Amino acid sequence: MLYERLLRPLLFRLEPETAHERACALMRCLQALPGGARLLQGLAGPAPELPVQAFGLDFPNPLGLAAGFDKDARLTGILPALGFGFVEVGSITLRPQPGNPRPRLFRLPESEALVNRMGFNSRGAAAAAAALAGAPRMVPVGVNLGLNKDCPPERAPGEYAEAFSLLCARGDYFVVNVSSPNTEGLRGLQEKRRLEAILRAIQERNAGRKPVLVKLSPDLSDSQLDDALEAACSQAAGAIAANTTLAKAGLPAAAALAGGLSGRPLFSPSTALIRRIRARCGLPIIGVGGIMSGADALEKIRAGACLVQLYTALVYRGPRAATGVLEELRLGLEKAGFRSVAQAVGSEEASA
Ligand SMILES: Cc1cc2nc3c(=O)[nH]c(=O)nc-3n(C[C@H](O)[C@H](O)[C@H](O)COP(=O)(O)O)c2cc1C
Repeated sequence: MLYERLLRPLLFRLEPETAHERACALMRCLQALPGGARLLQGLAGPAPELPVQAFGLDFPNPLGLAAGFDKDARLTGILPALGFGFVEVGSITLRPQPGNPRPRLFRLPESEALVNRMGFNSRGAAAAAAALAGAPRMVPVGVNLGLNKDCPPERAPGEYAEAFSLLCARGDYFVVNVSSPNTEGLRGLQEKRRLEAILRAIQERNAGRKPVLVKLSPDLSDSQLDDALEAACSQAAGAIAANTTLAKAGLPAAAALAGGLSGRPLFSPSTALIRRIRARCGLPIIGVGGIMSGADALEKIRAGACLVQLYTALVYRGPRAATGVLEELRLGLEKAGFRSVAQAVGSEEASA
């Protein structure tokens, strides 16, 4: 309430990326301050315990922060104070690059949505590895790998693998992001042979040590999805559904902006992608896209996600976004008679 009434109107007066930078700067200060995390935790409120196991890892609760918020992995010591059960950093590219020119992030408050065309602004894999090396580890940290803009598709396997090697010791799970719409040609890497080559190159260096997941686009046709999953099912530990969408029908304000759409309008297509993956293979799924409430999180879990993530809700609901969603989720699980998150995963199939 305090956020919606007071802080959000002030933040929304700022250009969106500037608001993001200020929020991150404040969190970096809190991170450096003794007692800073406790202060933020007080503001966010308590997160209910909803333990989940996935990919051989233990999560205190199933709600993570999605990739794109902490691109350079500088906030992993403070973000868990907001209640998140895990944090995914990145996308991180092998070499530093500035990303697209600003402005590149836009709010659509009437739709509770964002459009972004950041284009993988990244300080690079070595800088992210250094940042993670010095950070305390409170919850599992996922490392999302992107690709430099100037990397041709045939060099993609080598570059993803090199970034993976630099960061391997620093993450609990890894994500091959081949679904951002803001790097030309990137989504073409979801094609079976290209994705297979990328995963093979990473797995050669990984030797099964760390879970490697693939993040997919909600815009894949059925045959493209079949193709991507053929590669993912044999070599990945899971899938993330979904990245932002380029489909903006019925949203003229969004359609006027180049970039990927996130937030409420992405809820249905990204949940549909969970169901489409589930109908094709048994890969564990992290569900992300348009989660604004506990009911949204529960719907994704019941559709087949074992973990969920959010980003855009943090902009619209503020520092209590994660704790609010989690408390609503806890109540929703209880009301529906589930004794654990695991029990609810994929349960809509049984009741269909
Ligand atoms: C500003 C912004 C930057 C993002 N950057 C990345 C990124 O670098 N890598 C990635 O895999 N996803 C990125 N995403 C996508 C999110 O991780 C997530 O898949 C998407 O926003 C849907 O979730 P949401 O509706 O809860 O925001 C970004 C999203 C936003 C809004």
